[in-house]
Amino acid sequence: MRHRFHSICPYFAMFPEQFAEQWISRCTKPGQTVMDPFCGRGTAPFQAVLMDRNAIGNDANPVAFVLTGAKVESPTLGSVKGRLRALEQSYNAEVVEAERLLLPSFFKRAFHHSTLRQILHLRRNLNWKVSRVDRFVAALALGALHGEMTNAEAYFSNQMPRTISTKPAYSLSFWRKHKLWPQRREVFSILRRKAAFRFESPRPTIRGQTYLSDVRTLSSAITNTKAPVDCIITSPPYLDVTNFEEDQWLRLWFLGGAAEPRVDIYSRDNRHKNPARYWAFLCEGWQALRPLLAQRSTFICRIGGRNIDPDSIKETLSSSVQFLARRWTLQDYTVSTLIRRQTDAFRPGSVGCRFEMDFCFDLYQ
Ligand SMILES: C[S@@+](CC[C@H](N)C(=O)[O-])C[C@H]1O[C@@H](n2cnc3c(N)ncnc32)[C@H](O)[C@@H]1O
Repeated sequence: MRHRFHSICPYFAMFPEQFAEQWISRCTKPGQTVMDPFCGRGTAPFQAVLMDRNAIGNDANPVAFVLTGAKVESPTLGSVKGRLRALEQSYNAEVVEAERLLLPSFFKRAFHHSTLRQILHLRRNLNWKVSRVDRFVAALALGALHGEMTNAEAYFSNQMPRTISTKPAYSLSFWRKHKLWPQRREVFSILRRKAAFRFESPRPTIRGQTYLSDVRTLSSAITNTKAPVDCIITSPPYLDVTNFEEDQWLRLWFLGGAAEPRVDIYSRDNRHKNPARYWAFLCEGWQALRPLLAQRSTFICRIGGRNIDPDSIKETLSSSVQFLARRWTLQDYTVSTLIRRQTDAFRPGSVGCRFEMDFCFDLYQ
């Protein structure tokens, strides 16, 4: 059975488990260390702990940090149930009412007022940066925050896509046009059911590490690595394809962020659009990772972009690898065509990225 933690919450541009599994078994042995410095929902580090490897996940996006931490540093089901009980007991609708009233109109049409108060209570009280249990509860809530409204057991919101958070103006006009109103959802019971479902798969015995850091400062954030990194499996942001802050804005709000889509809190350097800055950013990132690598290691990278061709990606990525290692060889690479995705309709910026490339480099320090 596919491990039930994998699908705790969708994430834009996530890679499939098979991708991580195949490279982990090809490039590492049990006990070695796998790192993903742009880990998204944590597929590579989680697959690594399932395969008895040490794992390090990192991402600048708090949503990614919560999802990866929930998977690789999971608490027990008993502690999750206990925490949900305590949160439910301490819930007082009046305490969050003023906060609810001040939210933009999007929120009032996205969630039933009683559901929104419960969400606000969780948002105030989950200490996801520090507590593993709260991180797991937050991950369950992020996975339930928005999706199909016909599934009353699964999602809190009015009709929305699961993967990305649609913009307020688009959502409001969609709901008005289709006369859609949010249904009342019992947040605590949905989370209890979700927790029981996820824990039908056994918790991994190895515990990984998760960091919430810009890749360029990651090595100073890591203080207690057990072993040098034997393999990086990663997928950096694609050139000019998406801005994760906009795509994830509602989940970021749940974790304490702004009550509107933003593009400038975590990514002020325009690295997504301008090719020269994008590649400079990756070179800086690779340079920062270098001190963490073993004498011999492997670097697996899935990458794509708009208005750029596969040959240029191959050439520029390969020359950027000098920042990761003294000597390197390109073992293998493939180009695959991307099919049009449902989410393209909400995010015009993604149209134009028609291929993805996978690279495998051997690195020598
Ligand atoms: C293509 S996604 C990775 C998806 C991931 N492979 C998965 O399976 O979910 C790229 C990730 O890079 C992260 N990111 C963007 N800029 C970053 C930075 N400066 N430092 C660390 N992570 C960053 C984004 O938050 C996003 O999660």
